[in-house]
Amino acid sequence: LDVVVLISGSGSNLRALLDATRDPAYPVRIVGVGSDTDAPGLRHAQEAGVPVFVVRPRDFDRREAWGEALAAAIRAHGVSGGPGPVDRTGLVVSAGLMRILPAGFVAAFSPHLINTHPALLPSFPGARAVRDALAAGARETGVSVHVIDEGVDTGPVLRRARVEIRPGESEPELHERIKQLERPLLVDTVRRIAEGELVLDATGPSVS
Ligand code: GRF
Repeated sequence: LDVVVLISGSGSNLRALLDATRDPAYPVRIVGVGSDTDAPGLRHAQEAGVPVFVVRPRDFDRREAWGEALAAAIRAHGVSGGPGPVDRTGLVVSAGLMRILPAGFVAAFSPHLINTHPALLPSFPGARAVRDALAAGARETGVSVHVIDEGVDTGPVLRRARVEIRPGESEPELHERIKQLERPLLVDTVRRIAEGELVLDATGPSVS
């Protein structure tokens, strides 16, 4: 399966995916890594010899135009997204992309467009999920891998993993413990999609 990964940050989830592809039995090829900014995590792709691209929102006067340029960059790496068998469309994985993808972009790549989110969706969507879980006094949180739809972290959930919140835990401590589960969960979810065990659908996943 050909995969393009989108990041904005440190790229530790990207790194986990790249590491997984070193095993020839892992049925995935990362064909490109994109960002909205000079993300520090892009170096993981460069070290692995994977092409990177940066498409900055500030270079466009409308969000939709940014989305079209991002879509063109992804297609240039051989991933078209959209309906059809995933081995033909490829897959886009948002792994810490801190931008909401415009509606036109989502419509073009759906359902072969997934995201990883550091909370147990539908609880705590949005950019401050870890902080929000702590502020709400939640006793547990976790991670969700889901299909992206036009909402913010609202698409069909494919996989989740739980983390108990420890008393007095800080946001960085909790986020790091979430990420320790998030990386293998994302690697395994992408494998299942590649093997046809998880078939993506804009309205909900179907597990065969
Ligand atoms: C992940 O927890 C992701 O779910 C969230 O941001 C974090 C990115 O971490 N949205 P990294 O860049 O993969 O290390």
